[in-house]
Amino acid sequence: MAKIISNEKLDDDIYIMKVEGKFEGEMGQFYMLRAWNEYPVLSRPISIHDIDDNSISFLYRVVGEGTEMLSNLKENDDIELQGPNGNGYPEVEGNVALIGGGMGIAPLFLAAKSLKKMKNVKNIDIYLGFSQKAILTEKFKKYADNLVINVGGIIIDELDAEKYDYILTCGPEIMMKKMVQKSKDTQAKVYVSMEKRMACGVGACLVCTCKTSKGNKKTCKDGPVFLGEDVFYE
Ligand code: FES
Repeated sequence: MAKIISNEKLDDDIYIMKVEGKFEGEMGQFYMLRAWNEYPVLSRPISIHDIDDNSISFLYRVVGEGTEMLSNLKENDDIELQGPNGNGYPEVEGNVALIGGGMGIAPLFLAAKSLKKMKNVKNIDIYLGFSQKAILTEKFKKYADNLVINVGGIIIDELDAEKYDYILTCGPEIMMKKMVQKSKDTQAKVYVSMEKRMACGVGACLVCTCKTSKGNKKTCKDGPVFLGEDVFYE
């Protein structure tokens, strides 16, 4: 069990929770969160938004009973975290773009921080797309050579894939699919972070199957990050 430091509402249905402790985790990995004994039965998979020496943070949207219960937790309440799970984004180099749509921005903050420490990364451009209101932009600005925000439009229209060696994305499937298509004849390698329903979170139940060109994969264990062309190949 760990203690909650804060659980702040940022916007309608969007919260950021900070939990005390020294936690492991790489960019793109997630934890299973649980603050109840029996009902709802399943823990909730939430990607790591940030980690520092004494805490870990999760940015999440209330989408059902589990996340609603998470949103009601207060400072000093207990929470159970199981993880880190999943593979995370790979180490990259050269010119890199991070593209987040909606709650897809959640894992990209830790990604931006981690890229800043990679010695072979030359440039980090961050593209964030929101349907109604931009959040956390000042925070991202610190780690971006160039920060592009789009509200109400199509974020990938803002970007020229030719400029990049790697593109790391997270957000709606349609956005990630279009990004993969747009980068097809360029040198850019696109990695996508898939969101699927999960139960066990550790590769034991097959609830989170993701169809890829290399066969069915478990999003929680083989992913959630995949090479874009392997997932959006049709
Ligand atoms: Fe059980 Fe992925 S959630 S195998």
